[in-house]
Amino acid sequence: MIVAKINELKTLYSQSSKHSNYQILSKRLSLIIGNNKIKIKSRYEVERLKYILKYLNVNKKTIADIGGNTGFFSFELIDSGAEKIYYYEGNKTHADFVSLAANVLNIENKIEVANKYFSFENDIINKEYDIILLLNVLHHVGDDFGNEGISIEMAKQNIIKQLNSLADKTSILIFQLGFNWKGNRNLGLFKEGTKKEMIDFISEGVKNYWTITKIGIAEPVKEGIEYFDINDKNVIRNDQLGEFLNRPIFILKPAKQSHV
Ligand SMILES: C[S@@+](CC[C@H](N)C(=O)[O-])C[C@H]1O[C@@H](n2cnc3c(N)ncnc32)[C@H](O)[C@@H]1O
Repeated sequence: MIVAKINELKTLYSQSSKHSNYQILSKRLSLIIGNNKIKIKSRYEVERLKYILKYLNVNKKTIADIGGNTGFFSFELIDSGAEKIYYYEGNKTHADFVSLAANVLNIENKIEVANKYFSFENDIINKEYDIILLLNVLHHVGDDFGNEGISIEMAKQNIIKQLNSLADKTSILIFQLGFNWKGNRNLGLFKEGTKKEMIDFISEGVKNYWTITKIGIAEPVKEGIEYFDINDKNVIRNDQLGEFLNRPIFILKPAKQSHV
């Protein structure tokens, strides 16, 4: 029975989609499935999680993981003591993988799987979270979700609107954004593609709704990659690291002032 489930997990993990083989497996899941049995291209999940957990106590917290992919952050946060994860994923194969993995890990009571593209308009109206993870999702507006007919300028406005729409839904937001709209390198969201442009754009756009408390920046270290707090040096675009590692990790808290 368990063997059949594990084989099914391997099949689901390997089924192709634009975002498949994106995340490594969570630690406990890799012990069951075996990381060497499937093809994985990591996006520095362990390194991102380390930076996030440096500033966040997730113990007993209720957390939404929007665009949760194959569940790396959801499962790791449960193992770090989170009370409940609300996982949203539009892609059915990824959501099925996470449902079955939760069953195999015997943590179905800790995670609610919603196989849907989060709309940012009608969702979670009645729900408040302690923490929301919104990692590498919003540059897919007009592509994975939302109106396909929009211009890049509209897409940028939507990104800000969607971010701000979460300000009364959570105490903390962890946010990452790609530099290229729809993941297409010909559709750069910012003229020079620099971290500073992205940070200025986000800071200005959310200033009445959010306070940015931390910005994590990837740096090469002897052992590989580590995220550090932003400084004058690491804020400079580093082409050697590639596009993904130039994406800052923002930690935001709702601003105190009124939204009007
Ligand atoms: C680029 S991946 C990022 C995965 C993960 N958040 C991370 O940073 O490691 C984006 C994921 O979000 C999903 N997605 C995109 N838009 C979404 C939406 N509006 N609601 C839920 N899932 C979404 C995609 O199917 C994909 O699995």
